[in-house]
Amino acid sequence: MTEFDLAMSLSQSPEFRQKFPGVNNKVYFNYGGQGILPRASLDAILSTYQFLEEHGPFSIQANAWIQEKTALLRQDLAKELGTTTETLTITDNVTAGCNIVLWGLDWQAGDHLLMTDCEHPGVIAIIEALVDRFGITYSTCPIAATLNGSDPTQVIREHLTPKTRLVLVSHLLWNTGQVLPLKEIIEVCRQYSGEYPVQVLVDAAQSAGSLAVNLSELDVDYYAFTGHKWFCGPSGVGGLYVNPLRSPELRPTYVGWRGITYGKQGEMTGWKTDGSRFEIATSAYPQFEGLRAAIAVHQSAGNSQERYQKICQNSVHLWEGLNQIPEINCLKKTPPEAGLVSFEVKSDFSHHIWVQSLEKEGFFLRTIASPNCIRACCHYFTSPQEIDELLTKIVEKSQKGTIH
Ligand SMILES: Cc1ncc(COP(=O)(O)O)c(C=O)c1O
Repeated sequence: MTEFDLAMSLSQSPEFRQKFPGVNNKVYFNYGGQGILPRASLDAILSTYQFLEEHGPFSIQANAWIQEKTALLRQDLAKELGTTTETLTITDNVTAGCNIVLWGLDWQAGDHLLMTDCEHPGVIAIIEALVDRFGITYSTCPIAATLNGSDPTQVIREHLTPKTRLVLVSHLLWNTGQVLPLKEIIEVCRQYSGEYPVQVLVDAAQSAGSLAVNLSELDVDYYAFTGHKWFCGPSGVGGLYVNPLRSPELRPTYVGWRGITYGKQGEMTGWKTDGSRFEIATSAYPQFEGLRAAIAVHQSAGNSQERYQKICQNSVHLWEGLNQIPEINCLKKTPPEAGLVSFEVKSDFSHHIWVQSLEKEGFFLRTIASPNCIRACCHYFTSPQEIDELLTKIVEKSQKGTIH
């Protein structure tokens, strides 16, 4: 057994899995929706509230403590994502990060935004609002169809126009589990010569905490992520990476006391120049500590590359098992490259009834509307037994025929 195998098999051991109390009463495959909170995270949230009540909650000591812990969260996120603390803004979620970027650009009527056909409705809603407010245009390029062969970078290249200002892509597609070749996509955008340099906003909802991300190598413009999915942090804490080259031109839209600098009389003197420029005001700070504690648990299991490898081993195990079931069709025809495995039930497309029925029996998955399928997510600490139990359950259900 290699050192990696040993470390990673420990992360699937009952002892390690005990760190996540929520795995005990169910078989959970919804990490792409929301991760399971480690006990250490719950403890950190509670003890932070207790500390703040004891020493504040508003006091010089409590406020200094909050500042120190916020700085540490930025450090932990920077380490996980391969960037520096100044590039990071702490947000509430992915959508908040996308809003900062999308409202922060200096849009002119007629500017064009290109996105893939696999983006999240919540993010598309922002774009619709920009169309309404600024008269921009947008188009959608067919990336879903590249799942089993053709080149997504080429598709994006073909859909850029001289008016394209921004390309919006997800790093890891939430519906089919495809990992997009982000580095190549960014390169194509950099090389395109239109009216503007084409910038790239990445929806990292599914990639942060699951892929081994190195932002300094990717050279992306904006990367919006959350702590509550693959990082298994509490809901309500996320982040946004802004490339230092882009930062000066991105204007804050919602603003407040956390984003400004002060003079001697406490008056506003200007805007902060790092990522905190886009932060607004009071947050649920104990949740920050919850996310830090979750990240520490992951780091105790291995680095992001090792965890990613284990995620892939698990999802390949699931994918191979699903491929053995005649009634099941996995959307991806080659082994998964991340934790999301999407499949359809050939003879019975009422997937929501399948998911409902599985949930009643303790197996948590979700449906995806487009393409119509069921999605199962494996984390690095998902155990082989859990995967086998799910496979057995699906075989059982598919042999019964319709489950209505
Ligand atoms: C690809 C993608 N984008 C955005 C979101 C929305 O995330 P949040 O609630 O953190 O804004 C999700 C949530 O499932 C998602 O999968």
